[in-house]
Amino acid sequence: MEIIDGKEVAQALKKQIAAQVATMVGAGERAPHLVAILVGDDGASQTYVDHKEKMSAEVGFRSTVLRLSGDTSQAELLDLIAKLNRDTEVDGFIVQLPLPRHIDEQKVIEAIDPSKDVDGFHPENVGRMVMGLPSFVSATPDGILQLLKYYNIPTAGKHCVVIGRSNIVGRPIANLLSQKGWDCTVTMCHSRTRNLADVVRSGDIVIAALGRAEFVTADMIKPGAVVIDVGITRVPAPETKSGFRLKGDVKFDEVAPLCSYITPVPGGVGPMTIISLMRNTLLAKRLFGFFDRE
Ligand code: GUN
Repeated sequence: MEIIDGKEVAQALKKQIAAQVATMVGAGERAPHLVAILVGDDGASQTYVDHKEKMSAEVGFRSTVLRLSGDTSQAELLDLIAKLNRDTEVDGFIVQLPLPRHIDEQKVIEAIDPSKDVDGFHPENVGRMVMGLPSFVSATPDGILQLLKYYNIPTAGKHCVVIGRSNIVGRPIANLLSQKGWDCTVTMCHSRTRNLADVVRSGDIVIAALGRAEFVTADMIKPGAVVIDVGITRVPAPETKSGFRLKGDVKFDEVAPLCSYITPVPGGVGPMTIISLMRNTLLAKRLFGFFDRE
């Protein structure tokens, strides 16, 4: 059994990105510029955006965080997005989710120019991804693929069982792993799946992305399976500084001994997601920044 070290993989990919940015800047190009919009003062979102800003600086990007008050109107936010779409010095931007309830998230996502949508949430990017065309792939599915690649985990012909059908994880990763190059046979499970434990037990690769702490137990896992845990549920833990602890969707202690590979929580998929955002931003600069954004 090997524990997949997401921190190590993230560190390795971060070095590659930083080196590529250094080469770019050394050749006289401007650095990729990532903008994050944060609306309101949700604690977790602030933390995520702070991490993105720090990581951007560490790989040599220019980064800007636009902090808007929680009572910003939808029209104001859409205006700002239109401005960023036109801004030739912005390669990619993200609107941190969730947004306050009075704002329609889908409308906001669809307002982003797909060529700057480094979150890969715009339907044009999702559609292109599903069709196997070049696209910005969203952070969590891309992070999972990078982990499988780094550890040379065979996927061709394997039965991959994805638990969860969300637009940002389950659905895209199920689709990507079914594509040429990955070549999995994929089953997507959800809350209405019958005999879920039996289905999951038939998986050579199990991706748990349903968002229920410690849902996947040892009896659901085939010996030798690869288990990727996408869950990050905060459970109260008064003894910790933050007052909470992160739990995955997998009961790690009992499942791990059965696996060939398993990702821990924290330290598995989590550290990879921010790297994927950096990869997409560098790609945005490379693909589109050269022609009309200088
Ligand atoms: N909220 C949680 N994850 C994400 C993400 O990847 N992108 C954005 N924009 N918001 C998020």
